[in-house]
Amino acid sequence: MNFVNREKARQIIDHFPEEKILVIGDLMLDKYLWGKVERISPEAPVPVFEVEKETVNLGGACNVANNIAALDAKAYIIGVIGKDNNGEVLKKLLKEKGIEAVLVEDEKRPTTVKTRVIAVSQQLIRIDRENKDKLSPEIEKEIIEKIESVINDIDAIIVSDYGKGVITKNVMEKLLSSGKMVFVDPKPSNCHLYKHITIMTPNRKEAYQCAKADDEASVEEVGRTIMKYLEIDKLLITLGAEGMALFEGDEITRIRARAKKVFDVTGAGDTVIAVLTLSKVAGANWKESACIANFAAGYVVGEIGTATVDRETLISLIPEENGIISLS
Ligand SMILES: Nc1ncnc2c1ncn2[C@@H]1O[C@H](COP(=O)(O)OP(=O)(O)OP(=O)(O)O)[C@@H](O)[C@H]1O
Ligand SMILES: [Mg+2]
Repeated sequence: MNFVNREKARQIIDHFPEEKILVIGDLMLDKYLWGKVERISPEAPVPVFEVEKETVNLGGACNVANNIAALDAKAYIIGVIGKDNNGEVLKKLLKEKGIEAVLVEDEKRPTTVKTRVIAVSQQLIRIDRENKDKLSPEIEKEIIEKIESVINDIDAIIVSDYGKGVITKNVMEKLLSSGKMVFVDPKPSNCHLYKHITIMTPNRKEAYQCAKADDEASVEEVGRTIMKYLEIDKLLITLGAEGMALFEGDEITRIRARAKKVFDVTGAGDTVIAVLTLSKVAGANWKESACIANFAAGYVVGEIGTATVDRETLISLIPEENGIISLS
């Protein structure tokens, strides 16, 4: 089913520039080393990688904020970086994208960096630099102060949890006490922290882990288990090539995937939660919001190296035909 036609989508998307969204979670820098391998090292039986180019991208929660900014809404981001060069690089990238960075610097941990080493187009290795320990009480307090400093300015909250420490019980309590809508992209091991949120957007694997379900369970059963456990009445499970399942109370709506071509599926979940939130804040209902998010995700998975979509492109992806007729 498609629940939104282009005219309706345009009305919704036209409101995006008025919106202010807080993204909070684990910040990451994605680094790429491009180069070639032409010989084996004389020191050990390993290839020698010659770096030709280095590029950096916003990762983790930063990619959600990047999606918000690409759609002309105001994004605020709260998270933790280290007192290091990578932290400076991350701040510079956020600034370039017009994202309001409300960051806490922790001198005891490094900025999270995921470095991919790529020879021609083959990824050789990924090198992670991170610290997943619990945050110190002082750093947690600073995060809560940062939330207090922006909470009155924003329309809704997105929690982008990769389990690196920013999302804690106290942080979730603070966010929920604001009374604003809270959208969560979960880390399954933190599922117990998400009680009474507005909506969660796990992918299939995360949903099954949150529900502690085995493979025999259906998506419907898994969704119902999660909703009961978290005491929430909205849930959106993303299903990769199978689209999405939207749960609203007892009602379950399947939305088929919209990608015309698929190149790079990483980051699709970030686009989903960004567009779902923006659409909902713009006044769309849940079905319309999920459909627009699904079209946006279908676009980003088809683009090489693009993890975001702009407003005109998003509008153009949505069929002109009137809504409620089934297009699937
Ligand atoms: N292979 C695919 N074909 C068509 N659409 C896809 C495909 N993979 C992802 N999508 C679109 O992207 C959405 C999110 O994908 P998915 O369920 O894989 O999220 P995810 O695993 O959280 O992504 P990530 O964590 O990499 O950002 C889907 O609901 C669908 O709209
Ligand atoms: Mg995801």
